[in-house]
Parts: sequence; structure tokens; C-alpha cells
Amino acid sequence: MNPRELEPLFKPRSIAVIGASTKPGKIGHAIVKNLIEYGFKGKIYPVNPKAKEILGLKAYPSVKDIPDEVDMAVISIPAEKVLNAVKECGEKGVKVLVVITAGFSEVGNEELEEKLVKTAHEYGMRVLGPNIFGIAYTPHKMNATFGPKDILPGGIAFITQSGALGIALMGWTILEEIGLSAVVSMGNMADIDVMEVSEYLAEDPNTKVITIYLEGLKPGTGRKFLEVMRKVSEKKPVIVVKSGRSERGAAAAASHTGSLAGADKVYDAAMKQTGILRALNIEEMFDWARAFALLPLPRGENAVIITNGGGAGVMATDAAADYGVNLMDPPEDLKEKFRKHMPWFGSPKNPVDLTGMATPKEYYGAIKEALYDERVHSIIVLYCRTAVCDPMELANVIIKARDEARRDGIEKPIVVSMIGGEDVYEAMKHLNRNGIPSYPIPERAVSALGALLRYARYKGVVKQ
Ligand code: COA
Repeated sequence: MNPRELEPLFKPRSIAVIGASTKPGKIGHAIVKNLIEYGFKGKIYPVNPKAKEILGLKAYPSVKDIPDEVDMAVISIPAEKVLNAVKECGEKGVKVLVVITAGFSEVGNEELEEKLVKTAHEYGMRVLGPNIFGIAYTPHKMNATFGPKDILPGGIAFITQSGALGIALMGWTILEEIGLSAVVSMGNMADIDVMEVSEYLAEDPNTKVITIYLEGLKPGTGRKFLEVMRKVSEKKPVIVVKSGRSERGAAAAASHTGSLAGADKVYDAAMKQTGILRALNIEEMFDWARAFALLPLPRGENAVIITNGGGAGVMATDAAADYGVNLMDPPEDLKEKFRKHMPWFGSPKNPVDLTGMATPKEYYGAIKEALYDERVHSIIVLYCRTAVCDPMELANVIIKARDEARRDGIEKPIVVSMIGGEDVYEAMKHLNRNGIPSYPIPERAVSALGALLRYARYKGVVKQ
């Protein structure tokens, strides 16, 4: 496909909302409200047969009455009325349809869905959906969904085959301060599918990493999926949560969006071949995505753990074995350098244990040694809350060390895990906002670094 075909889906200059409503609580009302309140810069045209005005905007009885070009039409009227609206959109010259309405192939109404796509194609229109909650693209301040109003802008694109889960996660990403470039609800994928959207986002300069909640593909599209996603993975990391792993889960997926879940092992093997990173669950997917959005790829295999707690260090060491992270044995000269930043009973081996006496000063010293030593390629900083080390001060010295190294042309991934209470949570937020991914348990930090390494190996940045 030509990715430019999806330009009006992500960057429409004007949007008509068919089924816009004056009544709060209705989907057609929520979409217009989100478009306005999230600050969409293009034109918004509510369409409703009776209303004169909706949320302060002039409303039109039909899309054909709009005295302007319409790039995108969001359709939120009952299924039996959709075909007629699609025809009107075609006659108007609309380029892309976002069909919110449910009641198509997912409930056995394949015929209506086929007619919908056929009619749209007759007029050269593309269709997202049906059975979706909409689409958002934060660089253009477009929230054409009936999900939450706020979306934190950032480098992660999120494509979801589940509507309710997608909406819920939009709210969750705000809480977790996960920055998104796009949110795309796929629904029944009657026309535009996950592959096409991924291809478009692979070229999108505002997207650094693509995340996908996938239930299944349309029958017969498996081979194409492999080909397309291999190309996409060459350009950007793609992280997929593929649900329906168990037999019962697969059956549930089939009745949800009507797609075939397929044998899980086949998916698993296929994903590995294409460079797709398969996450076990949503938390892991966003943990990894945060790391990809913020960090450079490691240039080699050698990782170092710097910690003030032996226990955290041991847990991270186990996790490193699980996630394919190589903990280097520091050469004698490097051990000597680390030794300068710890009491005599500390350990300069890997994990580098600064002991519970460590203050931000010792962390700063040890992190700088690791940053400036060419044999170290990535750094895992672990912290357990102690009275002698204030978490926010620690966060600030980690940022300072990273910035100083960066000024000297040194770019290495640093992942952090901080264990403790509320002040620790605030410090982690501060780190995340300043481009250093931070996690509440060591395993999650190590797992994120493991994902970076796997992608770096796939790309050949790190030789296997
Ligand atoms: N053009 C423009 N507006 C039209 C219209 C047309 N041809 N036909 C009806 N409308 C108006 C209605 O008058 C109504 O406006 P009002 O509130 O001012 O009266 C509005 O469009 C909506 O129509 P209504 O009949 O009230 O439907 P609804 O809002 O109850 O339901 C859907 C419409 C699309 C929300 C519903 O059919 C549906 O599919 N719901 C499920 C959506 C879903 O879950 N999607 C997947 C999420 S993941």
C-alpha cells in the first residue's frame, strides 16, 4: 500500500461527525467534545438531522450540506443507517471513514460489513472499523475517540484490536505518564488493518515505537503479515501483546472481533522471525515501549548493575539471566574505579554494591565510571529507600550524569528501579519525565533492557 493513503486518517484538515448529538452521555456527543477540548486545529462539522448547533458548533443535517471539503467522517449512527451515510460521504468526496458503529461481522452480519466496504471503495474512500472507539493522533491534537479527553503526547503509538481495553488503557497511560503519538482502534478491520497502520506509523517521524494489542488476523493474511511486519521492524521496534494464548482464550477472541486467533505457537514463531517483540501482557508492553521511546539502543552486550541493596542486586541478576542481559565481569582496573565510590565492605563486582551507606554522591561517581568506560554498554541503577539517600536527589544526579556524558558524546541506555514509598514514586516520575525509564521493581527494568538488546541484535547494532 501507499502509506500516504492513510494521511487523511492521521492528519485530516476537516472532520465531520455523523451522529453528533446535543445529549451528553451519547457517543456522538463525546466525540465532538473530545475533538474540541483536546484542541483539534482543523475544522469540526457536527452532522445531525435535527440539531442546529452542537457544543457551540454549527450542525448540518447531512454531510452533503457542509460548505467545505471533508477529509474524514466519523460515523456514530445505528448500523442500519450507516450505508446511506456512507453513500452521502462518497458523494461529498470524503476520503476516509471512521466507523464507530457496532453490529457488523462481529455479530454475524458479514453482508452489511461487505456492503459498507464495497460502497466506500466505489467512491475511493478507506474505512477504519467498524466497531471501534475511534482514532487519536497527538501531534495534530486530534482526539476523535469517545475515550478519555486527555492523552499525554509522546513517542509511543498504540494500536488495539480491543475497544474497551483500549479506552481503559488511554486513562491508564495518563496515570502512568506514558506519552503517546497515536491511539488507533482497529475493531473488525473490514478494510484498513493492523499492517497498513503499522506501515504508516513506521514512516511517521513522531512515532518511535509501535505497540499492538492483537487478538488475531483475518484468515489468509498470515504470510502478508510476516512480510509487512518484517519491513516495519526494520524501521521501528514493534511490540505485540497477542492474546488468546490458551484454547479457550482463542475461542473468546474469535467471538469478540470475529478474527481467527490461530495456533499460538505459529504466531510465536512468526513474530520471532519478523523481529517483533512479543510481550506477555500490557504492563510489559508499555514497560518496553517506554524504554524504546526514551533510550538509545545499546551498542554492545555488557551491562552493569549499580545498587545500594544486595537483595535488589540479586533479583536483578536472576532477571538478567531470564531476559538475556549479559552482566559483565568488570576487569580489575574498572573494579578499582568502582571501589573509589563505596566503603571497604562494598563490592565492585557486578552487581556493583555501593551498600546501604551510599548517598547520591557515591551513585553519581559509580554511574559516571560506567558511562565513561567503553567496555560498559548499558547501566541498570537500583535503589532501595534509605534514610541516607534522598530519592529525588538521587534522581537528579542520575540525570546530571547522563547529561554530562551526553555532552561528551556518550549515549548509553540507563534503566532505573527504585523501591520504596511515595517519595520514591515521585522520584521515578521525575526520571521518566527526564528521559530515564524507571520501574518499581528491578525485574521490570531488566526486562525493558532485555527488549532493547533483543531489538539491537535483530537490527545488527549488537553483534550476536
Ligand atoms: N445522520 C446524522 N445523524 C443521525 C443520522 C444520520 N443519518 N441518523 C440519526 N442521527 C442522529 C440521531 O438523531 C442521534 O442524535 P440525537 O441524540 O440528537 O437524537 C444520533 O445521530 C445518534 O443516533 P441514535 O439513534 O440516538 O443512536 P445511539 O447514539 O443510541 O447509538 C451508536 C449509535 C453508533 C453509538 C450505536 O448504534 C452503536 O453502534 N453502539 C456501539 C458502539 C461501540 O461499542 N463501538 C465499539 C467500541 S470499541
